[in-house]
Amino acid sequence: MDFCNIDNIINKTHCGDCLDVMKMFPDECVDLIVTSPPYADARAHTYGGISPDKYVEWFCLRAVEMKRILKPSGSFVLNIKEKAVDGERHLYVLELILALKKQLGFRWVEEYIWHKTTSAPGKWKYRFRDAWERIIHFTKTKNFKMNQDAVKIPIGAWSNIRLRNMSNNDKVRMQSATNSGIGRKISAWEGRDTVYPSNVLHKAPITHNTGHSAPFPEWMPEFFIKLFTDEGDIVLDPFMGSGTTYKVSKRFNRKPIGIEISPECIKKTKETA
Ligand SMILES: C[S@@+](CC[C@H](N)C(=O)[O-])C[C@H]1O[C@@H](n2cnc3c(N)ncnc32)[C@H](O)[C@@H]1O
Repeated sequence: MDFCNIDNIINKTHCGDCLDVMKMFPDECVDLIVTSPPYADARAHTYGGISPDKYVEWFCLRAVEMKRILKPSGSFVLNIKEKAVDGERHLYVLELILALKKQLGFRWVEEYIWHKTTSAPGKWKYRFRDAWERIIHFTKTKNFKMNQDAVKIPIGAWSNIRLRNMSNNDKVRMQSATNSGIGRKISAWEGRDTVYPSNVLHKAPITHNTGHSAPFPEWMPEFFIKLFTDEGDIVLDPFMGSGTTYKVSKRFNRKPIGIEISPECIKKTKETA
């Protein structure tokens, strides 16, 4: 297969180690990469794992290719959370962020927090239940594509009462009572039905069985696909799993590429996409 021709790559799933597969792709051909890689040996029993101590080196080998194939206007969105080892959080995610920025030259534009609104109950000896994950946004340049209006959210019921009962103070820019220098003007919200979201995304994890042990909830690729691409753009998930990014990209008229090492995952995605 001639992978220099982009038409041979898009709208397809590719079976193999994403390192080998991406090496065959041309430079700067992908608009968006959305992915959750295998977390350091967290699911060794289902799809293998990488030792936390080797994780940064393992990931960076693949991230070099991700950077090479990403367009200058593109974005790389990485969902990851460090595991706890010997009663404390391992440093591999923090070290990975530093390596992606300092060694590979990605720009670390933002870190979104996924607050899992229905996280599983439980308590552990050294910590409480884990209710959040990182979603880290990297780019190659400052001038990346971003459609902020595409992910606006309803303003919320609070505005009905708060904006109906505005005081005169609400109509001018008020300085913070703490003297922090941060001011706000409540009336700026008047007449709006929708607002921009914050970088904390309050969303539920997936609750039904997709046949994969760690699937994305669909809202996640959907949010970033709408935010960072237009119709017709190319979206890659190099650790495709059950194909959530692939299927959502297709639904929103983007051109998906999925890479996955497990032939069973490839088969299931092909059957359901
Ligand atoms: C966390 S899961 C991704 C789940 C996915 N986001 C979904 O919605 O189903 C990580 C996936 O990466 C795959 N994987 C592990 N190492 C890989 C590699 N070197 N190249 C490609 N896929 C790999 C695993 O088989 C697993 O399905």
